[in-house]
Amino acid sequence: MIYPVTVFGDPVLRKKAEPITKDYKDLKVFVQNMFETMYNSDGVGLAAPQVGQAIRIFVIDTSSAEEDELPGIKQAFINPEILKKSGDEWVMNEGCLSLPEIREDVLRPETVQIKYLDEDFNEHDEIYSGFSSRVIQHEYDHLDGIMFVDYLNPLRKRILKSKLIAISKGKVIPKYRIKVPGK
Ligand code: NI
Repeated sequence: MIYPVTVFGDPVLRKKAEPITKDYKDLKVFVQNMFETMYNSDGVGLAAPQVGQAIRIFVIDTSSAEEDELPGIKQAFINPEILKKSGDEWVMNEGCLSLPEIREDVLRPETVQIKYLDEDFNEHDEIYSGFSSRVIQHEYDHLDGIMFVDYLNPLRKRILKSKLIAISKGKVIPKYRIKVPGK
């Protein structure tokens, strides 16, 4: 099942998402639907608040963007916790399914160490670099109510202001279904 994607202006994207418990109902179905929603919108990552749920889950699939010596990953991250960010910051032009038609340069550290549960509630502790690390950091931010536009300098924010207002009013037509705030 493909969910509509929440967009800028939706309060759920600004909430601090809550961890889930082991008895969370139909977790595997929810994770499967998140992957489906992500693929349907050509995304490489999707966080639960982007489908209207303020819970600490995100999915990523970076296998389409494999780098030399850095294989892509397809993984659901449940109740994740970033333990450490390290390495030099590097810039990448980021996009977000909740910010249709906006792309901006964002600085993030190279490497991330993250602890998380998979769909079977097995614990993992992994280190990622490169593009996967980038996507993980972006999606993890969503669980804390942070969007990449928050990192822009005041001038870039001012330039984007009318675009952001247009998004929050549903005046964008991406190729995937969105949920317009308040509707
Ligand atoms: Ni995003």
